[in-house]
Amino acid sequence: MSFKVVEQAPSRLNRCELAVPGSSPHMFEKAAKSAADVIFLDLEDAVAPDDKPKARENIIQALHDVDWGDKVISVRINGLDTHYAYRDIVDVVERGGERLDLIMIPKVGTASDVYAVDMMLTQIETAIGRKKKIGLEHIIETALGMQNIHEIAAASKRNESLHFGVADYAASCRAQTTQIGGPNPNYAVLTDPDEAGERVRHWGDMWHYAIARMVVAARANGLRPIDGPFGDFSDSDGYQAQARRAAVLGCEGKWAIHPKQIPVANEVFTPSEKEVTKARRILEAMAIAQKEGKGAVSLDGRLIDIASIRQAQSLVEQADRIAA
Ligand code: GLV
Ligand code: MG
Repeated sequence: MSFKVVEQAPSRLNRCELAVPGSSPHMFEKAAKSAADVIFLDLEDAVAPDDKPKARENIIQALHDVDWGDKVISVRINGLDTHYAYRDIVDVVERGGERLDLIMIPKVGTASDVYAVDMMLTQIETAIGRKKKIGLEHIIETALGMQNIHEIAAASKRNESLHFGVADYAASCRAQTTQIGGPNPNYAVLTDPDEAGERVRHWGDMWHYAIARMVVAARANGLRPIDGPFGDFSDSDGYQAQARRAAVLGCEGKWAIHPKQIPVANEVFTPSEKEVTKARRILEAMAIAQKEGKGAVSLDGRLIDIASIRQAQSLVEQADRIAA
């Protein structure tokens, strides 16, 4: 390990993060009763410009009136380049009470963006005597944000998670695609002809670089990497496939833009019985090996070593957190 200790953000389950427009208060109660770990009440892109002031008021009222249970509650403010953002922060934090856990900053581009919001939050929290410090979620969804992701991830002690905003990211990069998340048939290679002269198209994952880069920046700074939206909510298999490949790369969760997507995300980001049993067996086998002074042993015909302990521990810790 490096001499530098990576401080971990507060530990929270973040398997499914449900997006709920602030302009649709009739959805709040249902969201509160859903199985999502985190809910973000949106003031940004799901809310039309004329509805922003009302949406703010809806959210402030709901932060006091709705029984959110043990859900983590976040509010997505408008971009810092708009004239809505300052009022989103001031009104929601000053009047929203202690139930608000996180502020989500969309289209964050530089570490100074984070600094500016941190400064405002610190002033408001001090002025109103807030007990709990508000954490920050950052949506990486512009070329600028992706370029500066490491500085953004390290920019504040409030930082908790990075999110891949695939729709705006595609727009910012001028990617030739219009769907929200998911693969694109044009991102493919052709194999050489086989014996029968047939060539096969292999689709690639056009988001691989972005998600992998986000996972590295998040983990190197003790934050949760979270995969963003998948627009076609009637395609449950497609959503599941996108969630699984994000999980394999190290993401801890994925957004749901429709309640249908919640159980799928929860299933994908909850380690299976089989995986947990295997991880516990690795820990047991390695404990015995270490007592015997061995660094590596074989289990079920495969080599396991001290790195296997760390992998197994992180899986077991996640399973324990979910079971708690
Ligand atoms: C989310 O905000 C996205 O742009 O995908
Ligand atoms: Mg966006």
